Formats: sequence, C-alpha cells, structure tokens
Amino acid sequence: MRLHVADHPLITHKLTVLRDERTSSPVFRQLTEELVTLLAYEATRNVRVSPIEITTPVTTTTGVKISEPRPLVVPILRAGLGMLEGMVKLIPTAEVGFLGMVRNEETLEPSTYAERLPDDLSDRQCFVLDPMLATGGSLGAAIEFLFARGAQDVTAICLLGAPEGVAAIEKQVAGRDVTLVLGAMDERLNDKGYIVPGLGDAGDRLYGTV
Ligand code: URA
Repeated sequence: MRLHVADHPLITHKLTVLRDERTSSPVFRQLTEELVTLLAYEATRNVRVSPIEITTPVTTTTGVKISEPRPLVVPILRAGLGMLEGMVKLIPTAEVGFLGMVRNEETLEPSTYAERLPDDLSDRQCFVLDPMLATGGSLGAAIEFLFARGAQDVTAICLLGAPEGVAAIEKQVAGRDVTLVLGAMDERLNDKGYIVPGLGDAGDRLYGTV
C-alpha cells in the first residue's frame, strides 16, 4: 500500500477550520469540497492517460487525454457524498458509483446497505471517497467489495486518518495495488471509535444532523 499524507499549509488551514466545532454545515460542505479537490490532485497523479494529437493555433502537437475505461469514483454513503463534488470537479468525465456502508455504533462493524457499481471493475481505476478513516472497517469493506468485482487499482481519499485505521487497511490489502491519500494523520481513536482530535461525526457536520 502506498500512503500519502498531505503536507501543505493550505490543506492544514482548511482542515483547521473544518475541525472547529463552531464551523457551520454550509461552510463545512464548502471546505470539504475544496479539500477534496486539493487531495484529488495528488490522488490522480497516476491516472491513466493516452496520447492525443491536437492542433493549437500555432502548430500540431501531442498531448494526453484520460484513458478509457474512465476512472470510477465511489463515494461511501453517507459522508463520502460530501466529497463527490470536489472530486468530479477535477475529473468531470469520471463515472460515479455508490456504495452504502453503515457502521454499527456498538460493535463498530461495517455492513453494506446499498450498492450501485458496474459489475466488472477490471481495468477501472477506482477512487473511493470516505472522509474519516477511523477503525478502517467501512473503508476496508468497501475496498474488498471493489476487489471482489475485479478492481486491481484502488485509491482511497480521506480527509483525516487515525494510525489504527491506516494499519488495519495496510494489513488487509497487503500486496495489492492500493493508495491511501490523507489530508492529515491524527493522533488516535477514542473509546467510541472517533478520531482524536478529529472533527466529530463528518456526516452529521456535513448534513447538519447535530
Ligand atoms: N466517523 C466520523 O465521522 N468521525 C470519526 O471521528 C470517526 C468515524
């Protein structure tokens, strides 16, 4: 697994505002979108492209275009949905699939409650969106789901990660082509499975259910 933790003052600044409990849902949504666009820049560093001949007003030249089959963006419902807009801004031609994972707040175990993905994901570069990598349960289950559909190249983008979650994903995906892009690596999980210092429940803060 490749791990990339963003190290950029603009990302840290935006994350700081996001973490602040006084930040309203509309501002939280806007910042999430902006952060994802910045993280997506790094996450798409190895997006497949094909050469293309074009004519500029001056001459002909060779450029590149994103290859077929198109990349697949998979927000994990519900909180990953808040990251979708920022991602498709950067890759507007990407296809979007959906995966609904829910975490049992007592056992912390994930289960799938909704799925809208192509049947065959071989040859697709998949970009999974999940803001909080806490225990790694939901993200790990989502990555397994994609591999079971034939995916071979999965990149996960998270705003925040806990060392426990990163270690769990690393152990789970051993030897497979997975990249993890984090806005920041936080300190730890608390006994309720929340990231510390974190930002609370990302879904609640995105959608105002507090
Ligand atoms: N999910 C969240 O939304 N926040 C956390 O801190 C952990 C999991």
